[in-house]
Amino acid sequence: EGNKLWGGRFVGSMDPIMEKFNASISYDQRMWDADIRGSKAYVKALHKAKLVTQEEMAQIQDGLQQVLGEWSSGTFQLKPGDEDIHTANERRLKELIGEAAGKLHTGRSRNDQVLGEWSSGTFQLKPGDEDIHTANERRLKELIGEAAGKLHTGRSRNDQVVTDMRLWLRDAITTLKGNTIQLITTMVERAAIEINILFPGYTHMQRAQPIRWSHWILSHAVALSRDVEQLEEIRKRVNVLPLGSGAIAGNPFNIDRELLRKELNFDGISINSMDATGQRDFVAEFLFWGSMCLMHLSKMAEDLILYSTKEFSFITLSDAYSTGSSLMPQKKNADSLELIRSKAGRVFGRCAGFMMILKGLPSTYNKDLQEDKEAMFDVYDSLHAVLQVATGVMSTLEVNQKAMEAALSPDMLATDLAYYLVRKGMPFREAHSCSGKAVHQAESKGVPLNQLTVEDLQTASPLFDSDVSSVWDYTSSVEQYTAPGGTARSSVTGQIEHMRAWLKVH
Ligand code: ARG
Repeated sequence: EGNKLWGGRFVGSMDPIMEKFNASISYDQRMWDADIRGSKAYVKALHKAKLVTQEEMAQIQDGLQQVLGEWSSGTFQLKPGDEDIHTANERRLKELIGEAAGKLHTGRSRNDQVLGEWSSGTFQLKPGDEDIHTANERRLKELIGEAAGKLHTGRSRNDQVVTDMRLWLRDAITTLKGNTIQLITTMVERAAIEINILFPGYTHMQRAQPIRWSHWILSHAVALSRDVEQLEEIRKRVNVLPLGSGAIAGNPFNIDRELLRKELNFDGISINSMDATGQRDFVAEFLFWGSMCLMHLSKMAEDLILYSTKEFSFITLSDAYSTGSSLMPQKKNADSLELIRSKAGRVFGRCAGFMMILKGLPSTYNKDLQEDKEAMFDVYDSLHAVLQVATGVMSTLEVNQKAMEAALSPDMLATDLAYYLVRKGMPFREAHSCSGKAVHQAESKGVPLNQLTVEDLQTASPLFDSDVSSVWDYTSSVEQYTAPGGTARSSVTGQIEHMRAWLKVH
């Protein structure tokens, strides 16, 4: 049980299936950098608390730097018994510091220590001490190796793991925020370029009113801007230092948590050690964030899948984000968008699954919490990919302006017909009914709404006059919606300006 951090009270060895079941190293090794950063800071605090000497601190820092080097060059070798990233790094640190024994100059004072043991008669011979040289070297190694063993003083994997996760997630959030901002920027700039294009807006997936294509784009960009704001909120709660909480009760060695906070660049320190080690609400929040963001993106993807069908032909997806069929040569499938849509389900599942794990857990650390990492990594990976693919799709798709405008039809102006009457003084309820009668009349005659004669229309209301012809214009229709948030050019331009200003401060 050589590598175990907790072997002392155990006599029997662990069942091999249990060993595998218990281990998290296969996935938590992703946090190697955070784990080493945390340890580097912790050894400084140990030194300040006079628990390690200057020399020991230097040895540990050196060793940790080497472990870091191994991970970043991909040469770190996992060994059986490396249960998790914390165990693996500490095991390797001990090995490296041990290896340094004898060859490193830092061994000098240790030599003095061995000398001291001999002269005070406290040197203990051990089995295997063949001669004085092996005995001295064995003892030297032990003493130097002790430095590594001091690193975990007052620390528990309970405060260590949650420190690692917060460090990792903080960086992940920064990356995802950048990805989302990039997508929003792409969309806002596209909306500015294509502001002239009109197309049908749908409610209940039924043809509703003419709108600007840019208005549709911005509707999704605006939702994504709230995702960015939420991410910023979450980051504040993630960026709190738990280290120095120990396993449950706190730290008994006067560890300077303020020093740890500064070293690791956290905004604040956790208030209560039980809360700090036992809560994973910051993970759940992140998983919810991913779910909400994907809810927004799946809606956008679904619209675009529909718009890319031959029946709609509003847009053509770039080949770069489409796939073909192995059987039907004519096919061009919107796989990018379908996968974005499907990731929403996957990520909701991660969120719901982890919430289930948290529900009813007793206070403080329980091994159930080890399951937080796969959920966190998977949601990060999904969003990291989705946001980049969505940016690619949105920057490369082609808009078929002709098809979009050809899809507009006079029935979509029935509301405008009612507004015509409203502008002549009729109450809206009555106008709605008159326009409805006109729609019915056109349907029974089998003609488009704008083909009804003024006489036809006058049977619905005497207020109709020859100037009704002005209603049948899609551009003037959208231009009515000048109130902020509407689809008139001035209002859409206002939205673009708003979003550009928002982007400047995020
Ligand atoms: N691998 C563990 C996890 O991810 C580290 C913490 C283990 N702590 C403990 N007391 N067993 O949660």
